[in-house]
Amino acid sequence: MIRVIVNCAMSADGKIAGCDRRQTRISTPEDMQRVKALRRSVDAIMVGVGTVLADDPHLTVKHLGPDENPVRVVIDSKGRTPDSALVLDGRARTLVFHGEGCDRMWEGAESFVCGRDRVDLRRMLGILEEMGIATLMVEGGGELIASLFDEDLVDEYNVFIGPMVIGGRCSPTPADGDGRDGKDAIRLRFAGSEVLGEGVLLRYLRI
Ligand SMILES: NC(=O)c1ccc[n+]([C@@H]2O[C@H](COP(=O)([O-])OP(=O)(O)OC[C@H]3O[C@@H](n4cnc5c(N)ncnc54)[C@H](OP(=O)(O)O)[C@@H]3O)[C@@H](O)[C@H]2O)c1
Repeated sequence: MIRVIVNCAMSADGKIAGCDRRQTRISTPEDMQRVKALRRSVDAIMVGVGTVLADDPHLTVKHLGPDENPVRVVIDSKGRTPDSALVLDGRARTLVFHGEGCDRMWEGAESFVCGRDRVDLRRMLGILEEMGIATLMVEGGGELIASLFDEDLVDEYNVFIGPMVIGGRCSPTPADGDGRDGKDAIRLRFAGSEVLGEGVLLRYLRI
């Protein structure tokens, strides 16, 4: 089975960005080094379209060529990824998974119909597995990570806590979505911690 590794950075009060949803630097330089090494070690890196629109990440590793970089995966039911998005810049292979209602094509990406209104994440993982992808790093955002937890698809959850408070009812968190009653919280197995500069990395595994 494909191994799904979620990685995100949150403030000390549990937010991954501010109310404006704009990209916020939370990681310390030491954590950035760890993230780079993790990116380098996986076969593919995935984000939701919300992250593409908010952060415009390139999801590549510096100095690696298009054939060496991990495959980039975007989850985008309605085809909202703009043609100017950096994930389409040709620096790595890019796959966009969308719903049946979307017939958009992107130069610089292969597109896959996968689900009706929303992308069927389990089916998407099956397609990646058939391509030979064994490890998938998920770099956000909160909606996509919440869906992966809801469907019990997360094998490893890495969350870095940076030295800041963002606050705000509407600020995104590592797992947004509809949430659940506290008694139904998804339980995780603690697998270690590491101090990285002025922040702490927490690592959890599926029970
Ligand atoms: N600190 C960090 O580590 C970090 C990392 C990444 C992002 N962020 C922040 O996170 C925010 C963006 O997160 P987000 O939650 O808005 O967006 P997201 O999780 O990146 O993308 C969510 C979108 O993906 C699409 N989608 C399609 N199928 C889905 C499925 N089965 N489950 C869930 N989503 C599905 C939906 O849009 P459609 O219905 O249109 O397809 C959904 O709105 C930004 O503020 C960004 O800065 C922070």
